[in-house]
Amino acid sequence: MSSTAPARLCLRRPDDWHVHLRDGALLQAVAPATARTFARAIVMPNLSPPITTVAAAEAYGARIRAALPDGSRFTPLLTAYITDTIAPGEIARGHREGVFTACKLYPAHATTNAAAGVSDLGRIGAVLETMERIGMPLLIHGEVTDAEVDIFDREAVFIERQLAPLLARHPGLKVVLEHITTADAVAFVRAGGPNLAATITPHHLHINRNAMFRGGLRPDFYCLPVAKRERHRLALRQAATSGEPCFFLGTDSAPHPRSAKEAACGCAGIYNAPFALESYAEVFEQEGALEHLEAFASEHGPHFYGLPLNEDSITLVRDSHTVPPRLHGNAAGGEATDLVPFHAGQVLQWRVGEEG
Ligand code: DOR
Ligand code: ZN
Repeated sequence: MSSTAPARLCLRRPDDWHVHLRDGALLQAVAPATARTFARAIVMPNLSPPITTVAAAEAYGARIRAALPDGSRFTPLLTAYITDTIAPGEIARGHREGVFTACKLYPAHATTNAAAGVSDLGRIGAVLETMERIGMPLLIHGEVTDAEVDIFDREAVFIERQLAPLLARHPGLKVVLEHITTADAVAFVRAGGPNLAATITPHHLHINRNAMFRGGLRPDFYCLPVAKRERHRLALRQAATSGEPCFFLGTDSAPHPRSAKEAACGCAGIYNAPFALESYAEVFEQEGALEHLEAFASEHGPHFYGLPLNEDSITLVRDSHTVPPRLHGNAAGGEATDLVPFHAGQVLQWRVGEEG
């Protein structure tokens, strides 16, 4: 640390443009962590069953609000899960009524609870046309699912085979390529117009694919899209910290109970919500770019979504602390909410302090 390093950073309160809040006991356990730091979050719809109707989203929004601590001012921004058969009218109505902020596109079987996702982009042309017309963002899990494509190539192949043609068919559609993991995605998004952006997770800024195999099989570093080679991580760090408005914060915090992670066929997902902003701050400081953290965390996302900036602030205090190896849920307790946070057992340099 240089002697000129700041001891406190006061930022406009950030938003998380990609999070999994789950449902039931897990929702109770994880929602407070996101609400502590973020004013708003784009909440993923891959519940079981997925959120495909306005009514289901309204009910889910109420359950999220009920899981928040008293006095919380957190606003969940809900999304619709696109299936092969979802009606464009349902999506448009949800958007008009302020229930759906965006739609999420999972290629069928790409990840957790994606079995009901889209089997062929040709089937959702009318949905995409409607979204383009009403200015509703499309959030994409950008991986092909063909078993013959190597898992480390699935994002780059998706961009070439699926995303580029989709953008050509719908030039007015606002698209967020979620949780990008490759230099290919960085270059593609950078070269896209103002309708194309990407979220970048804390974990893809910190780990490369070796993390999953260091000293043995490490399920806590397994997520989708899977972390790639070091050169991709470096490209992501450069993009996130560059100050370019097409890159913004989206944690993809994706909690699974420890029993589901540490299993013969473990689930994909990294639970980073408890120390997400701290984790990003560490990266920005290491890259000598702390002056760009606020724009990445608090400005580029709202600008892309056409939403107002948050008016309140948050303080990051330099205060090194060790992340707990385990987090246990609330009163619901038990194995279902036994979670391993990202950075478990590691020392982080920043801590979210009191409100500014
Ligand atoms: O690692 C992941 N976990 N990637 C996803 O796309 C889904 C998420 C989840 O819901 O668990
Ligand atoms: Zn996700």
